[in-house]
Amino acid sequence: MTQIVDGKALGLSLRAAVAAAVTRFVAHTGRRPGLDVVLVGEDPASQVYVRNKARACEEAGMRGEVHRLDADTDEAALLSFLAALQARDEVDGLLVQLPLPRHIDAEKVLLAIDPARDVDGFHPLNAGRLFAGQRSLVPCTPLGCLRMLDHAGVRLDGARAVVLGRSNIVGKPMAMLLVGRNATVTLAHSRTRDLEAVCREADVLVAAVGKAKMVTRAFVKEGAAVLDVGINRTAEGKLVGDVDFDALVGHAGVLTPVPGGVGPMTIACLLENTLRAAWARAGLDPATLGV
Ligand code: GUN
Repeated sequence: MTQIVDGKALGLSLRAAVAAAVTRFVAHTGRRPGLDVVLVGEDPASQVYVRNKARACEEAGMRGEVHRLDADTDEAALLSFLAALQARDEVDGLLVQLPLPRHIDAEKVLLAIDPARDVDGFHPLNAGRLFAGQRSLVPCTPLGCLRMLDHAGVRLDGARAVVLGRSNIVGKPMAMLLVGRNATVTLAHSRTRDLEAVCREADVLVAAVGKAKMVTRAFVKEGAAVLDVGINRTAEGKLVGDVDFDALVGHAGVLTPVPGGVGPMTIACLLENTLRAAWARAGLDPATLGV
């Protein structure tokens, strides 16, 4: 039997918990928590993502605002735009949608974001805190994956975990979160020798490579938990993950679908991070967050 984790339902329940805490935040501070999202250029996928992020904030009772800058905005102009935003107290969370146009150095931009408002968890200070096992704002997709594993009752302590993909956004922070939960972690990637055999060792397999249906039955030990972070479009325009879902039903122990799996959890965790940032900036005790 394969347990399919419904990310949409789980995301909705997390969003409801965030909304309840937002009400308490408003009662205490007299203002709403706020997220500001900056988009440079007109990448069609990014347009959809930023709109969804802002809308989800509003639905949870927070302020969500998208700032659209022209594709030819230069780096200095973007940096001064971010500085002006961060001079405003109501900006609790700030993120710059990636990818940025090629003429802008993304590393410099991420460094310019106040770590206390870095709800993506991409600033090197927050990445370093995660590495050191300290409390931090954690990247939303890996955080969502961890929440799904917990919800499914997957035991991480002592488990063998393989993270497939070494990006700064997903693979590396995912590996750190799993280490923090006492899993034995392998960070595998395109140069890993004997990749199928490495993945077959996993009790927990997280696929974040961006290759449609690459993870077949041959990659998965029977009964393993498989999380699919991939969002790929087929030639026919269908949305598929990195995992061959149909081939793993009846073989994996736990499995996440695409769409309706990790994606909705990522947005819910962004709301959680925004609330968390607002809570800390207001000097409230994180223990009273209740999320
Ligand atoms: N582009 C793809 N995923 C993300 C994300 O999680 N945050 C940002 N800022 N850009 C992205």
